Amino acid sequence: MSETPRLTRRPEWTALEDHRADAFQRPRLRELFAADPTRAERYVVRVGDLRIDYSKHLINDETLALLGELAAATDVSGLRDAMFRGDRINVTEDRAVLHTALRAPRDAVIEVDGENVVPGVHAVLDKMAGFADRVRSGAWTGHTGRRIRNVVNIGIGGSDLGPAMAYDALRPFTARELTFRFVSNVDGADLHEAVRDLDPAETLFIVASKTFTTIETITNATSARSWLLAGLGGDDKAVAKHFVALSTNAGKVTDFGIDPDNMFEFWDWVGGRYSYDSAIGLSLMIAIGPDRFREMLDGFHTVDEHFRTAPAEANAPLLLGLLGIWYGNFFGAESHAVLPYSHYLSKFTAYLQQLDMESNGKSVDRDGQVVGWETGQVVWGTPGTNGQHAYYQLIHQGTRLIPADLIGFARPVAELGDELKAQHDLLMANLFAQGQALAFGKTADEVRAEGVPEEQVPHRTFLGNHPTTTILAPELTPSVLGQLVALYEHKVFVQGAVWNIDSFDQWGVELGKVLAKRVEPALTQGADVPGLDPSTAALVAAYRSLKNA
Ligand code: F6P
Repeated sequence: MSETPRLTRRPEWTALEDHRADAFQRPRLRELFAADPTRAERYVVRVGDLRIDYSKHLINDETLALLGELAAATDVSGLRDAMFRGDRINVTEDRAVLHTALRAPRDAVIEVDGENVVPGVHAVLDKMAGFADRVRSGAWTGHTGRRIRNVVNIGIGGSDLGPAMAYDALRPFTARELTFRFVSNVDGADLHEAVRDLDPAETLFIVASKTFTTIETITNATSARSWLLAGLGGDDKAVAKHFVALSTNAGKVTDFGIDPDNMFEFWDWVGGRYSYDSAIGLSLMIAIGPDRFREMLDGFHTVDEHFRTAPAEANAPLLLGLLGIWYGNFFGAESHAVLPYSHYLSKFTAYLQQLDMESNGKSVDRDGQVVGWETGQVVWGTPGTNGQHAYYQLIHQGTRLIPADLIGFARPVAELGDELKAQHDLLMANLFAQGQALAFGKTADEVRAEGVPEEQVPHRTFLGNHPTTTILAPELTPSVLGQLVALYEHKVFVQGAVWNIDSFDQWGVELGKVLAKRVEPALTQGADVPGLDPSTAALVAAYRSLKNA
């Protein structure tokens, strides 16, 4: 029986290497567009409200065909179908991967171990909706009978980044009379700054933790409880009115002292970084209301269905995933910039960092063998115009290839005044200008023609040829946000499938957690920590003497 060759020995992989060497040794976007102006229309894919332009990529029809063959050879669609079916594709944790079930319609049937999980999903959504409505209307009151005006989400990683990002993204849709804060860092300053101007009688804490064992979250939640009780006269009963939990671990929630009735559950088949459309989104649901939350879920579902059913050549997450592989594996690109031209998406890239880097930062394949190819990518970026005056220089004229996503919207949010709305065209002009400058640059002759002195010509020349994807949507709504997030979720999935890695575990975060627990007593109690390496031992000694100076 012949063995399946490893990824880089597959003929589909070597065909791409050859294609890179033959057709793209000195690829120029200028030439590609000159040879085929129709690529501006042809290299566009639409999903839901998203118009995704990938014409400014270092590709031609042959590249796309070869990438498609790689996807077929690595059976991306097979793994995709297994994910949607509820198979245990998270092999190292022996779990199903079913964030898509979180946004499935009520009548869908998705089974895990023979049980349809969809009714449970909707039961929790309904419970969340009831609670969110009570908080929003003032029917849910605190221990002293005052209505809740402040909501503080305590969580970290996937239990923080998603709700915090989405709350910012959807601010115009939020109940402006309520205050929302997100606490994640175990640095006490985070909680301090979040609550220092709040009245405990009007404050609800949402403790978000899939495992309910994460030390940062439990430590912050414990301090928050002390702050609350100190402010409300020390009556333990206050906890029931001011603390709710979002978790898969009912036992630990009860141990913490939170009434299980005030727990909103989710399931082990929801990964932390794929969880903000589960109970983890409760703070967001309180902010935007259940109807808007459901619109967001529908947006996710639209892209899920597209990913599941669209043909390969028009499948947006598949295309974006393969383009990332093209640059990361065949051009040596190490990073990928995500540059939203929307102030409301300020935290979007930070959210994607966890989604992408925790999923695909792996160096062994699904069978435990060391991979012989690059995986993952460094994802970075901030809102576009700010970046233009900071780090875009390196993208334009540096030596590295940095593919970028430019994300923008045709309409500003409705609540801006006329003068601020008018600024939107300037914002978007910057997005389009950057895509153009990055792709086509400015030749030395063009610079000379402007009368620039010869010695300055090299400094003012832009080679261009920097690939970008432009994602354009009519407006940043709850549905569009769901569509965007699902697009990136499935893009990450595609890459993990091709690289044959488990995109759904995160063992790489464990060692640091264990060592922190071991080192902490040396800092707090001055205890000796056996087995510390000399460098860390010296740092601990220096810390202790500075601390006590
Ligand atoms: O340590 C990494 C991680 O497990 C993430 O995957 C997760 O999103 C985060 O910690 C928070 O975990 P939890 O929701 O269990 O507190």
